[in-house]
Amino acid sequence: MYRTNTCGELRLSHVGQAVTLAGWVQRTRKMGGMTFVDLRDRYGITQLVFDESRDAELTAQANKLGREYCIQAVGTVSERSNKNPNMPTGDIEIIVTGLTMLSTSDTPPFTIEDNTDGGDELRMKYRYLDLRRAAVRKNLELRHRMTILVRNFLDSRDFIEVETPILVGSTPEGARDFVVPSRMNPGQFYALPQSPQTLKQLLMVSGFDRYFQIAKCFRDEDLRADRQPEFTQIDCEMSFVHQDDVLEVFEDMARYLFKEVRGVELPAKLRQMTWAEAMRLYGSDKPDLRFGMTFVEVMDVMKKGKFSVFDDAAYIGGICAPGCASYTRKQLDQLTEFVKRPQVGAKGLVYVKYNEDGTVKSSVDKFYSEEDLLELKAAMGAKDGDLVLLLSGDNANKTRVQLCALRLEMGERLGLRDDNKFECLWIVDFPLFEWSDEEQRLMATHHPFTMPNPDDIPLLDEHPEQVRAVAYDFVCNGIEVGGGSLRIHDGALQEKMFKILGFTPERAMAQFGFLINAFKYGAPPHGGLAFGLDRFVSIMAGLDSIRDCIAFPKNNSGRDVMLDAPSELEPGQLEELNLKVTL
Ligand code: AMO
Repeated sequence: MYRTNTCGELRLSHVGQAVTLAGWVQRTRKMGGMTFVDLRDRYGITQLVFDESRDAELTAQANKLGREYCIQAVGTVSERSNKNPNMPTGDIEIIVTGLTMLSTSDTPPFTIEDNTDGGDELRMKYRYLDLRRAAVRKNLELRHRMTILVRNFLDSRDFIEVETPILVGSTPEGARDFVVPSRMNPGQFYALPQSPQTLKQLLMVSGFDRYFQIAKCFRDEDLRADRQPEFTQIDCEMSFVHQDDVLEVFEDMARYLFKEVRGVELPAKLRQMTWAEAMRLYGSDKPDLRFGMTFVEVMDVMKKGKFSVFDDAAYIGGICAPGCASYTRKQLDQLTEFVKRPQVGAKGLVYVKYNEDGTVKSSVDKFYSEEDLLELKAAMGAKDGDLVLLLSGDNANKTRVQLCALRLEMGERLGLRDDNKFECLWIVDFPLFEWSDEEQRLMATHHPFTMPNPDDIPLLDEHPEQVRAVAYDFVCNGIEVGGGSLRIHDGALQEKMFKILGFTPERAMAQFGFLINAFKYGAPPHGGLAFGLDRFVSIMAGLDSIRDCIAFPKNNSGRDVMLDAPSELEPGQLEELNLKVTL
């Protein structure tokens, strides 16, 4: 037997037992004739003790152990005289009687500690060592646990897991596809699925009724903290459902996960907010509800023919930062710099301080009277001691998005974005289409199979931009964790959608013929959603980036620095695939 116990297991109740442990040397300390070795495995750390006076040869061997050597130790569990209350195994140690070296180790490029000295790129290059660190390992353990909980929950609700292929054709989800050349079909390419969307709809036509899959998805898009080119969805679809049926099941699932994983009780019914309201109050379709500071539009109050910036604006709105009237010049300058950053894009920031002593001080004192600013105070619901921050612009939605960035920054500065607090809600009634400046045409907000709100179908021809979709997102702490919709199951309506989206019937048939044809054979009403597993895990773990809960993630340029992928192909491989690189 390689080991009788793990390094996280032994307690005072084991004292006197003969044990064999195996693991990695975390550190060694020599104190006089005694040598202490911290032995680590997945389960914890146990202290090994070597005593020169008892066994000089064995202790000499222990003194040669380097960091990250892989060893096996035989010995007896003994009570420590010097207990370590910070370690679960801190009451005991192992008096070692036998040591076997299983593997030596080069000096690791960074310390395998929670607070490692390794930078990001280095840790990614040696990810297998990074994964030895408890902090990273715990995230993968949590991910495993959540996956099991999800499978159990969905199984108990009659969902069945079906695997769909990874080599598929292109699907229009809004991002670019990763493509794979086919050797057997020269000049032709597979695409990797951006999601199993159309396939799960086909499974509904097949009568599977309730499907799920822990599905790998691939999108060639720009990366951010919550985006990876390859990520995992908890992908689900249901037949014979209305929106409420779908929301109920997945709200239950979220409630179950939060309870099991974090011991957090979500409310009995989650709040639903329309997209329009979310944009009006938070400037975002994924509002962070852990704090208030909702937007107040103050067009009427500020447009007085006194300040041309506001007089010409299509939108003037603000937030009220409680207790921030004491902000210094420097802090206000920092906020102005913040909103002017290219990522935010505002031209400037107007502030009004409503001081505790009742006086008012603003950056627009020379344009507005104190009376005007007191009118603003009432409109904003501000109190003495509060700071009102205003942004304006010639495009209402763009200005709201800028104000959203400012609101989140203030939430951050005021410590209101607490990782241990969870505010979940549904955003509903998304617009069916959005205008793409890049493509100069309407695009499906979600995807072309999303059901229009039946009340809005008469608007499809004349005012498609006003049509709401039966689509919903699950948002937690300002992050879109999941999204879905009811689907069109009526061939004629689907054809109309393709037409509005600028598909000729031939192109629609070429790209989606399989789905259009399938819908001719008794397609049931259906709908579903997909949660981003990586995002769900990282929220539960309070991580800043989804990278930390992925075993082998890509960096911000989409590279796997450990595997050094992507990489060039050998000329022979290119030839076999009929590919020519023109770089
Ligand atoms: P959607 O595109 O909204 O919907 O994706 C669903 C969820 O997947 C996660 N997600 C990502 N996570 C990490 N990296 C990415 N690049 C990434 N892109 C998306 C998000 C998101 O909420 N087929 C539809 C679902 C449906 O309609 O049923 C779909 O894929 O958490």
